[in-house]
Amino acid sequence: MQKTVNQSILPYTARINEQNHLEIGGCDTVELVKKYGTPLYVYDEEGIRTCCKHYKDAFSAYGDVLILYASKAFMTRAVCKIMKEECLGLDVVSGGEIYTAMNSGFAMQKCYFNGNNKTPEEIELALYCNVGRITVDNFYELELLNKIAAEKEITANILLRITPGIECHTHEYIKTGQIDSKFGFDLAQLEEAVLKIKTDYNNLSLKGLHAHIGSQIFEKDVYVDLVGIIAEQYAKIKQKYGMEFTEINLGGGIGVKHTEEDDPISIYEFAEVIIPALNENIKKHNLERPKLLLEPGRSIICNSGVTLYRAGSYKQVTDGRKYIAVDGGMSDNPRPSMYQAKYTALVANKVNSNNEETVTIAGKYCESGDILIEAIKLPAISPGDIICIPATGAYNYSMASQYNRAPRPAAIIVHKGRSDVIIKRESYQDLISFDVIPERLAKSGFSCI
Ligand code: LLP
Repeated sequence: MQKTVNQSILPYTARINEQNHLEIGGCDTVELVKKYGTPLYVYDEEGIRTCCKHYKDAFSAYGDVLILYASKAFMTRAVCKIMKEECLGLDVVSGGEIYTAMNSGFAMQKCYFNGNNKTPEEIELALYCNVGRITVDNFYELELLNKIAAEKEITANILLRITPGIECHTHEYIKTGQIDSKFGFDLAQLEEAVLKIKTDYNNLSLKGLHAHIGSQIFEKDVYVDLVGIIAEQYAKIKQKYGMEFTEINLGGGIGVKHTEEDDPISIYEFAEVIIPALNENIKKHNLERPKLLLEPGRSIICNSGVTLYRAGSYKQVTDGRKYIAVDGGMSDNPRPSMYQAKYTALVANKVNSNNEETVTIAGKYCESGDILIEAIKLPAISPGDIICIPATGAYNYSMASQYNRAPRPAAIIVHKGRSDVIIKRESYQDLISFDVIPERLAKSGFSCI
């Protein structure tokens, strides 16, 4: 079966060049660092596009499908442009994501708005931009959305998010399908929600159900269960209320390879699980064929992104481990400290040199927990060497902070020997640009010395 981009630690176009340097998108990473500095997020355009094509190709056998890129994984206006060119839609979860999509010229009908606490302002914005669907998460939101839509004299097209009661093996913080979750209606509440829409909420048009069971999932069976559970609900609602749903949204979630131990399924395997499960359930329950929606984020973008750092100080603990510190850490990659996420690394300016020592890669921020990788065997590292941590394209920039007043790094995209900035590096000036000194403090002549 064809391997897909999420199954390789390094980006699709990565290779080692004659200088023993890591090259991505035809660009030598050593030269990229000279040009753009470190830390630096580097994105492989061909890898991202290939992944989008794999999704479309793998699921085309089902028929009517729309792949919505989950923008929370990494969103910039340039990424929106690529998704638009690749004919994907967007899963958006905030006013900021809606605004970014709109500002990049995205077809807003292909934006689907998710979230467990959409504010009235965000709902207004979503309706103003005419997003394709709003996925309603709870009873409060049903009422709020109906009220706002009624004031505007429009009908909002919606899906209902359900928690199907499926537990998957992933980190506790990124599980979402279990019954006790902050997201969605549990199955016991679903009928009441449907009935309310049918009888009370005249400004809502319900198109189907949505579920997202979690993220970084390596199992297949959970998706078969998910399709079965949702299809059963479709059948029940059709039988009881005569409503035939026209769409089904199965969320995102398939895993990616960060280290040799990870063994994620390919996008084609994913399709080979989903499509037969849908076909069987459609037949079993005698349903109209709903349009299939999927919301992959990580599996589209993660393995096309790497982070480049410069090695700086090092420390050999007496009778203990050796630390190599890089010029970034938990502010540009909070995942190891937040989810105990595991990564691998390579030395981008001497990729194929012999691995000589076992080191711990530490970040530079003021927390002992700011460790990017525990115990990895690498070539002997000197200050100034370039450390590359691959498979950092998802949920890193989007969760980056300015902790310790660290300016957030730049992100660039590489393609066929060309490199372009897609997010500028923040400067110290940027850091203070939102600070305000109240006039009374500015005027005060008091000084403690
Ligand atoms: N749809 C919904 C409703 C979601 O909540 C998510 C992710 C996705 C789609 C996309 O899932 P993906 O295909 O990327 O797994 N910050 C965490 C991940 C949080 C995921 C939140 N929801 C991390 O760094 O692992």
